Amino acid sequence: MPSSVRSIAARSACPHTETQMDSKRAHGSRYQVRGGAVLNGSVRISGSANAALASMCAALLTDDTVVLENVPAVSDIDSLAGLLAHLGATVERPEPSRVEINAAKVGTLEAPIDLVSENRASFQVMGPLLARHGFAALPPPGGDVIGQRPIAVHLDGFEAMGATIDRVGEHYQAHAPKGLAGTRVFADYPSVSGTQNLMLAATLARGETTIINAATEPEVQALAALLNSMGARISGVGTQVVTIEGVERLHGTTFALVPDRIEAGTFAIATAMTHGDVELVDAPVGVMDALITKLRAAGATVEAREGSLRVAAGGRLAPVGFQALPYPGLPTDLHAPMGALLTQADGVSIIHERVFDNRMLYVDELRKMGAEIVSTGSSAIVSGPTPLHGARARALDVRAGAAVLLAGLAASGTTVIDDIYHLDRKYERLDEKLRGLGAELERV
Ligand code: EPU
Repeated sequence: MPSSVRSIAARSACPHTETQMDSKRAHGSRYQVRGGAVLNGSVRISGSANAALASMCAALLTDDTVVLENVPAVSDIDSLAGLLAHLGATVERPEPSRVEINAAKVGTLEAPIDLVSENRASFQVMGPLLARHGFAALPPPGGDVIGQRPIAVHLDGFEAMGATIDRVGEHYQAHAPKGLAGTRVFADYPSVSGTQNLMLAATLARGETTIINAATEPEVQALAALLNSMGARISGVGTQVVTIEGVERLHGTTFALVPDRIEAGTFAIATAMTHGDVELVDAPVGVMDALITKLRAAGATVEAREGSLRVAAGGRLAPVGFQALPYPGLPTDLHAPMGALLTQADGVSIIHERVFDNRMLYVDELRKMGAEIVSTGSSAIVSGPTPLHGARARALDVRAGAAVLLAGLAASGTTVIDDIYHLDRKYERLDEKLRGLGAELERV
C-alpha cells in the first residue's frame, strides 16, 4: 500500500471499538419501563455533556485553575477526568455540577488505550498537549459505533500547523518541538470534535490560524466562548470560517456551561410521544429551531420562551420527514428519538441520515416492540401509528438507547432495556427525571 493510502487508512480506523463494546456488555444495569404513563410537569435541563467534555480539555492549556459550572453528572465526564488525572492534572468536583481542573503539573503526554477508548472527546487532549508541550501520543478514540469516525480533520490540521504525526503501534504520536504555527486549515468535513481540537491547538500557536469549513455546532461556539474567557482571541464562531489569533498564554476562568440541546430535545420528543405536557426549564431554545419546527409539523404545541420550552401534544400526530444534518439542521443525535416518535404518527415518514453512516441501530430494537420501520443504507421509512408492546431490547448506543426508552414509555406492558451504561454516558439522572414527570421506570 502506498504510504499516503496507508496513512489515510490509519486515520480512518477505529480498530478497538468492537472489543471495547464487548467488554462493556458485562456492565449489566438495565431499565425496566412500564409503558402508558403520560409525561406531565416540568424538568430542568442539565448542562451540555458534549460541551463539558471539550471544555475540560481546554483546562490543559493553562497553569491556572479552570472552574466549570453546570457540568452534568454523566459517566463520560468521569472517564475524561480519569484521563486528565493520568496526564498529571488535578480534577476536583466539590459539588456534582462543578468541576475544577488544574493542569500546572501535567507531565505525562501519552495515554493508554483503556483511558482513551471510553469516549470520543478524549482525543481532544491532543490539541492542548501539542500546543503547550510540543508532544502527545494517543490511540484512536472510542465512542459510539455509529459509523466511520475518522480523525483525519484533527491530524491533517495539526500537520498543517507544523506538527509531525507518526503512527507507532496503536498510538498516534504528534510532535511539534518548536511549537505550532498558525496557518489556513481546510477541514474536509465540518467535524465537531475536529474543529474543537484545532481551535484548542491554535489558541497557543504562533500567528493566526483560519479554519475553513469549520463546524458551527453550539458546542463549538461554547468552547470558543470558554477559550476567549481564558484570554484566547477567537472570532467567526458559529460560521464556517473561524479565525484564531495565537496568544502567549491563557489564564484560568470560571465558566458556566450551556444547557444540553440534545437532552432537551429528547425530553421534548418523549413528551410528544406520550401525549403529555411538559415544561423544559433552561432549554436552549435559541439553538433548537430544527426540532421545534418538526414537532410543530407533527402536530405538537411548542411554546418557546427564553430559557423555557413547553411541549404539549393532545391528539393525533402527523407524519413528518426529516434529514439529520450538521447544525443548524436537525441534529443526528435526535434522529433515533425522532424515529421512535414517528412510529406513533398517522402515516408514512421518511428519514435521511446525512451525518453518520451507522445511525440505524435503533431500527431493529424498535421492530422488536412492534414498530413498522424499514431502513436501507442511511434512510428509513416509518409507518404509523403502530401500537408498541413491551419487549426486551438493547441500548446499542447513547441515542439508540434513548429511542428504545421512549418507545418503552409509549408501549403497552413492560420493556426491559439492557446495556443502559450507554445512556449513563450522556444523560444525567435520566430515570429520576423521567419519574419526576410521571414515567414508571426503574434501574434494575
Ligand atoms: N468526519 C470526517 N472526517 C473527520 C472527522 C469526521 O469525515 O476527520 C465525519 C464523520 O465520518 C461523520 C461526521 O464527520 O460522518 C461527523 O463527525 P464529527 O467529527 O463531527 O463528530 P464527533 O466530533 O466525533 C460529535 C459529538 C457526537 C455528535 C457529532 C455530530 C462529541 C463528544 N460527540 O462527535 O455526539 O453526534 O459531533 O454532531 O462531541 C452523542 O452525543 O451521542 C454523540 C455521538
